[in-house]
Amino acid sequence: MFDLIVKGGTLVTGEVMDIGIQGDKISALDDLSGAEAGQIIDATGDLVSPHFVDPHFHMDATLSYGQPRINASGTLLEGIGLWGELKQVMTQDEVVERALTYCDWAASMGLLAIRSHVDTCDDRLLGVEALLDVRAQVKDYIDLQLVAFPQDGFYRDPTARDNTLRALDMGVDVVGGIPHFERTIADGTASVRELCEIAARRGLQVDMHCDETDDPMSRHIETLAYETQRLGLQGHVAGSHLTSMHSMDNYYVSKLLPLIAEAEISAIPNPLINIVIQGRHDSFPKRRGLTRVKEMQAIGINVGWGQDCVLDPWYSLGTADMLDVAFMGLHVAQMTSPQEMRRCFDMVTQNNAEIMGLTDYGLHIGATASLVVLDASDPVEALRLRANRLFVVAKGKVISQTPRADATFDLTGRASSVRRRQKSNRA
Ligand code: FE2
Repeated sequence: MFDLIVKGGTLVTGEVMDIGIQGDKISALDDLSGAEAGQIIDATGDLVSPHFVDPHFHMDATLSYGQPRINASGTLLEGIGLWGELKQVMTQDEVVERALTYCDWAASMGLLAIRSHVDTCDDRLLGVEALLDVRAQVKDYIDLQLVAFPQDGFYRDPTARDNTLRALDMGVDVVGGIPHFERTIADGTASVRELCEIAARRGLQVDMHCDETDDPMSRHIETLAYETQRLGLQGHVAGSHLTSMHSMDNYYVSKLLPLIAEAEISAIPNPLINIVIQGRHDSFPKRRGLTRVKEMQAIGINVGWGQDCVLDPWYSLGTADMLDVAFMGLHVAQMTSPQEMRRCFDMVTQNNAEIMGLTDYGLHIGATASLVVLDASDPVEALRLRANRLFVVAKGKVISQTPRADATFDLTGRASSVRRRQKSNRA
């Protein structure tokens, strides 16, 4: 007797399998014909995937678009200035409300684990308190991991260092940083060193905004790799953005990539944001700014797509849909072969789960029963259609349902009206 059976779905491996769930765990993967369950989902012909994971987000800023004004230049620096204005006037209740609304959107999209940076450059630590509250409120359906992020510079902001340490004392999970925003390269280097030392002392992961710039001489990733090695943090460090690598000299990159691989640093490009923020100072040709995704993967570096922003000072769109993120990444990184497209799906599921250090992730016996049933027959079709999330199961419970996309259309101008669907196996 199961609490829930997801019946007849196609797994990302292509196998067709019934999934039996007891409590919040997967307890059977088999042909469960005849088995009883409190609830049965018929997933015949649909893709059943482990839930989506976003390793890079800013939940304190989300859904604030237009407050107090629009980012006119579209640049990172105007966004940081605008966020500074908003920080002065926002309240803790507002942050909680916006974040909870976003979590509802995320849950409906099957996005059930999110790593969010939270700004620690605020003596009140209002955003930190708000997101710690949200982390507790959503824990039954979303795993929210928080990164202490000194947005205005660990050294550049006079109280950021103390406030970042306070935030970690309060229970923030991961150590962040922004070395390219410090006043000098030397300060950026020193910030990477001290922040990694803090993480090593406390047994925490590191996830830095690193080299989010078009300047090819922004090379803090080199220091991050060095400090990771020196402190034995291999496998516990991520570099977010890494956009300067787009513009770096190829010879230097040929030295750098093995250093990143050796340090077991993961990379988190954020294609929706990188493509609109970077290259703003270029005339033509305009650089894309996206880091070297395929080149990193080719030497074994784990790369996961992050979302970064939804409706905030840096980005005016977004829907909490990791398939949108992967779709954009696929285009910008030109990952268009069948294998590469398939890998883009992994980059918003399995790869990101590894970055976040999620245990019990996936569809196997003993895993946490958090999964999504997609209105698509395979991962590439899910990307092509940005398929509807028919059912979202979080920790054993169905928490969201979306109707099947009625992608039928009437060609009324033809002699005989036809109805077609774009989904391949139901045409
Ligand atoms: Fe970010």
